[in-house]
Amino acid sequence: MGQPEPRIEARLKVTGEARYASDFPVSNPAFAFLVTSSIAKGSIQSIDLREAKSVPGVLEIFTHENTGELKEVKFGGGASTSIQDLGPKILHDGQIVAMVVADTFEAAREAAYKVDIDYKAEVPSATFKSPGVTEEDASKVSATAKDLPQAGNAEAAFAAAEIKLDAEYGTPAQHHNPIELFTTTAAWHDGKLTIYEPSQFVYGLKNSVAQKLGIDPEQVHVISPFVGGAFGSKAQLTPRSGLVAFAAKKLNRPVKLVATRDQGFTIATYRAETQHHIRIGAARDGKITSFIHEGSEVTSRPDPYSVAGVEDSARLYGYGAVKTHVQLVHADRNTPGFMRSPPVVPYIYALESAMDELAIKLDIDPVELRRINDSMKDATGKEWSSRSLMKCYDQAAQSFGWSNRDKKPGSMRDGDWLIGWGCASAVYPTHLGAATARVQLQANGKAQVLIAAHEIGTGVRTVVAQMAAERLGIPVSAVTVETGDSALPPSPVAGGSNQTASCCSVVMKACDAIKARLLLGADTVGSGTPIGNDSIEEKFKRLGVGAIEEYAEFLPPEGKPDTIKKLYAGTPLLGGGSKGEKLMYALGAEFVEVRINARTREIRVPRMVGAFAAGRIMNTRTARSQYLGAMIWGVSSALHEATEIDPNVARYVNDNLADYQIPVCADIAEVDIILVPEHDDFVNPVGVKGIGELGNVGTAAAVANAVYHATGIRVRELPIRLEKLLGV
Ligand code: MOS
Repeated sequence: MGQPEPRIEARLKVTGEARYASDFPVSNPAFAFLVTSSIAKGSIQSIDLREAKSVPGVLEIFTHENTGELKEVKFGGGASTSIQDLGPKILHDGQIVAMVVADTFEAAREAAYKVDIDYKAEVPSATFKSPGVTEEDASKVSATAKDLPQAGNAEAAFAAAEIKLDAEYGTPAQHHNPIELFTTTAAWHDGKLTIYEPSQFVYGLKNSVAQKLGIDPEQVHVISPFVGGAFGSKAQLTPRSGLVAFAAKKLNRPVKLVATRDQGFTIATYRAETQHHIRIGAARDGKITSFIHEGSEVTSRPDPYSVAGVEDSARLYGYGAVKTHVQLVHADRNTPGFMRSPPVVPYIYALESAMDELAIKLDIDPVELRRINDSMKDATGKEWSSRSLMKCYDQAAQSFGWSNRDKKPGSMRDGDWLIGWGCASAVYPTHLGAATARVQLQANGKAQVLIAAHEIGTGVRTVVAQMAAERLGIPVSAVTVETGDSALPPSPVAGGSNQTASCCSVVMKACDAIKARLLLGADTVGSGTPIGNDSIEEKFKRLGVGAIEEYAEFLPPEGKPDTIKKLYAGTPLLGGGSKGEKLMYALGAEFVEVRINARTREIRVPRMVGAFAAGRIMNTRTARSQYLGAMIWGVSSALHEATEIDPNVARYVNDNLADYQIPVCADIAEVDIILVPEHDDFVNPVGVKGIGELGNVGTAAAVANAVYHATGIRVRELPIRLEKLLGV
C-alpha cells in the first residue's frame, strides 16, 4: 500500500488556478456555436443562411457545403466520425449540421438559431425492437467481440442441469455528463496548429485531427493539462475538433467552441442500452455446470461499436461450460462509446443479478454461492494471475455484518421501512499499455518527469511522482510532473484503467536507468563497480555533471517492434485482461443496505461497503477517492440514471442536468471502502492493477439484490425507480 499523498495539483485545483482547455487565453478569439439536426434520419435538402448571416458580428457559417476538404477518419472502437459530420445525410438526432463563427459568443448563438435548414425526414428507428433496425452478430464486425469465450457444450449441460435459472435483464442508455463541457479551441501560428481540448489521449487527438485536416501530425500540438471529467467521453476524436481547427484556418483567427450541455448528448459518445439473456445451470450443491450469456447492444447505423462484456462475465467463475454471444442492433442514433467500465457495468449487473436469483433457487447464501464457484481457472482452462475475490467478500461481509441477515425477503423491517441487504462482485480487466517517459534528476536532488499522461481526475501526476520519488530515493515534494501535452513523450489513452500501471512502469524504468548511471558513474556503466552510499549531491559531484536525463520506452508482453512507433502515431496498444497469457483482473465485493418505505416506495441507500483487491495500491487516498466515486456512480446506475429516448423521433428527451437523474448528497450516506492487500508480480513490473473502473461494476446488482431482499420484487430493468416497486 502506497502513502496517502495528497494530489500534487490539489492547490491549483482548489484555488481555481488549474487551467482547463477552454480557460487558455488565445489572442483575439472568434466564438463558435453549433447547429444540430432536428431530425434523426433523412437528409438536408437546402440551407438558408441569409437571416443568420445578417446577425452583426457573424464571420462565417460552416456547413457540409463548404467543408468538403475535411477527410474521413476512423478512430478506435470502429467508430467513424466523418460519416456523421455535417450532412447532407442525417444519421442521428443532434448531428452537427452547421457551425456559426462570430466575434462574440452571443452573436454566434443568435445566428445559429437563425440557420434555416430544410430537411427531408424519414421515420427513424430509435432502439431495440423499433421497426427498421438491422441486426448483426457482433463477433463478425467488431474487434472487441471477436473470439468470445466458449467452452464445452453449454446448451447440453444447461438442459441436463438439476437447477436452472433463465432470466432477462436490461440496462438503459446513459450519458457521461462530465461537468466540463465538450470544448475545443484552435489557433494557427505559422502553419502550425495548437488545439486546446480536454482529452484522454492527446496523441490520438493530435494524429486524428491531422488526418481530418490532411496535414502532417507534426504540425499539430494538443494541450490538455487538466480534464474536468471524461469517463470515456473524451477518449476519441469527435466531429467538432476537426471542424473548429478548419474554421480557425479559414478565418485566420483562433476559434473557441464550448458546446452546450444538450449538444453534448449527441456530439459525443454515450453508453448505449443493452439487453441480456442469461441461463445458468447448476447442481444442487451450487456448482455451476453451464453458463450462457447472450447480450444485445444498440449502436449507430454506420458503426459496429460493441462492448461485448461476455468476455468478462464468462470468466468470473469456474463454470463447467460456457456459451456466449453478442448481437448488435443498428438504430438511427449517434455512435456509442466508452463509458466508465464499458463492458462490465451492464454485463456484470446482469450476471450478478442472476447469481443472486440462482442463490435463492438453490437456497444457498449468495456469498457462499460465489465461494462454491470460485476458481483459479475459467471454463476455457485459462488461469488467473491472482484472484482475491473471496478475501474481498469475507472482509466486506464482516464489516457489513452480513451474518446477521435474515434471508427471507421483507423480514427485516424497521417501522415503515423495509430493509434489504444485497451483495455482488466487482471485476475489471487489468490493462497495460506501451508508454514512454523522460525523467531528469538534478544534482540538487530535484527530479522532473515528462509524460503525456492524462489528469482526468484520477491523480496520475501524484502516483507518477510517488513512483519517481521511490525509485530515486528522494521525497515526493522534490518531483515535478508534466502531463497532458502532445509535446511530451506519449503514454496510452487514459482508458481501460491502464494509466497507473503503464505510466508507473515506464517511469520506474527511466528512474532505474538514472540510478544505474548514478551508482556506477557515467564512464563505468556496466563495469559493476558501485560507488557507495554517499548522497545524491556527492554522486553528481563525482560524475562531474549537473543532471542526468533518461528517456524510457515500456512495452507490455503483447508489444511488437513497431508498438512505440504506433503509439507516437496515435494508436495505443492495450494488452492484458483476458487477452494475455493469464487472466489479469482486479476484483471486489460490494454490500449494500437499502431501505424502502412500505407506504411511499421511496428507496434509500443508507450504507454501502466495498472491499477491493487490485494489486499494489500506489496511493491509498486517491484509490479510496476512485472507489468512493465509483460506488456512488453505481447507485446512480441502480436507482437514477437513464437517458430517455422518444421512440417516435429517436431523440433524447432528458438532455440536461435537471432531468437527467443522478444522486445528490442526500441520496448517499455511509460508504465504507476496504483496500484488500494483494501482491501480483505477473501483471506488470509495478504490480499495479487498474482501479478507476472497478468500483462501479458491482453496485447496481448489489442494490437490485438488496431491493429484492427488502421487497420480494426482482427488478430486471435498470434503473430501479419507485414505480417499479408498487404493490410491495
Ligand atoms: Mo474509460 S470508459 O475506459 O475511458
